[in-house]
Amino acid sequence: MKEGLSFDDVLLVPKRSSVQSRKDVDTSTLLTKNISLNIPIVSANMDTVTESHMAVALARAGGIGIIHRFLTIEEQVREVGKVKRAENVVIEHPYTVLPSFTVRAARRFMHANTVSGLLVVDEGGKLVGIVTARDLLFEYDDAKEVGNVMSTDLVTASVGTSLSAAKEILHKNRVEKLPIIDSHGKPAGLITSKDIVNQTNFPKASKDAKGRLRVGAAVGIKDDFVERAGELVHAGVDVIVVDIAHGHSDGAIAAVRKLKSLFPDNELIAGNVATAEGVADLISAGADAVKVGVGPGSVCTTRIVTGSGVPQLTAIIDCAKSAGGVPVIADGGIKNSGDVAKSVAAGAFAVMIGGLLAGTDESPGFIVTRHGARYKIIRGMASLGANLNRKEKEKSERDINDYVPEGVEAMVPYRGCAMDVINQLVGGFRSGMSYCGSKTIKEMQKNAEFVKITSAGMKESKPHDVSVL
Ligand code: XMP
Repeated sequence: MKEGLSFDDVLLVPKRSSVQSRKDVDTSTLLTKNISLNIPIVSANMDTVTESHMAVALARAGGIGIIHRFLTIEEQVREVGKVKRAENVVIEHPYTVLPSFTVRAARRFMHANTVSGLLVVDEGGKLVGIVTARDLLFEYDDAKEVGNVMSTDLVTASVGTSLSAAKEILHKNRVEKLPIIDSHGKPAGLITSKDIVNQTNFPKASKDAKGRLRVGAAVGIKDDFVERAGELVHAGVDVIVVDIAHGHSDGAIAAVRKLKSLFPDNELIAGNVATAEGVADLISAGADAVKVGVGPGSVCTTRIVTGSGVPQLTAIIDCAKSAGGVPVIADGGIKNSGDVAKSVAAGAFAVMIGGLLAGTDESPGFIVTRHGARYKIIRGMASLGANLNRKEKEKSERDINDYVPEGVEAMVPYRGCAMDVINQLVGGFRSGMSYCGSKTIKEMQKNAEFVKITSAGMKESKPHDVSVL
């Protein structure tokens, strides 16, 4: 019988290193065959982890977030749209409203789409004003028409205005939004000072060819998955993730083949698998990257309920070997930055994280207080709670009593903002690269040597014989 190892069973053997500082190492990697990232971190497509807020944070940090699929198609598309609009060089299709829109409707619209301003156009589509959150801040008459509260003193620029010229105009006129108009006076774009500032604040951000933040979205393999994928592609999603618990199944392979043939230009990640054969089958069906992990996740009970799975380190090593250079993403079980280093050293191009990010401000859900400490809720996508909620959304009448959960609902400590958690993970990972004598991820994978440890070795690795403050 084959031996299966997980992260805590091994350590990376330190190697001679020419790395002078953690800053010297290059953490860039591939997410899929054609999408690169600046850090190897992906947030999990779980309903307590990734919607647009988390995806924006991940993309700004240089990674990517995958919007979960327990949403209606419309909701999921809207979350993708929010990420795509969060940062732009030029917002290509700014939201517009008519002057007859009420203040109440404008407020709702801005809130639902997380934007702080709307262009106001007349019936012929000509720009006549702009209304911003600031204009509405102290406007107490919700029934008033936007036409009566908008600013009409407009500063605009013409199509083709360069970014540096736009910056000048924004500065000279002390305005924050610069509508671009075509020769008929119709809006053809929008440049905002916030976008320009963000470009300096987040120089490592993951961006698409149009300068928008990258985002992925998950689909299943049943019911509306083709329609869902089509709508997501239409909304500009960068990568579709075919995500089911047992990705090495005829259904998953057929779904990957179908989606790749329908959307050949869109990158496709498929999973989850834990074996060399699983990876090979998904790649030959058309996957541009494969997600690896059956049962290692913080809220997973698949291994207990089904008796199936492969300890994660062995799964990563086996899968990476069989992927022939196609990226594999290690999904689940990351407890600290050392686990990120071990995953990448074992052959993963990136890691997917749920539990460690679920406690941050950017995850969906509220902070709860228990005995004076603050927590957020995480739940497995195969937990009873997540599936009750999903069935409600789908108005499905399938009997929930037949449902066998493979995940639990739990609390994780509140951890503040996602960027802080990501910085700690990436900082530790950079040091890990240095201990492996590697300046790049490729070098790390080449240099890595694991040593198997015993429980005594693990005990020695943690603080011991002291009272940790
Ligand atoms: P972590 O350890 O980062 O793992 O929280 C996140 C990954 O866990 C998987 N996941 C599940 N696996 N039952 C499972 O067996 C579940 O209910 C479940 N929910 C999430 C998933 O791969 C995720 O990315």
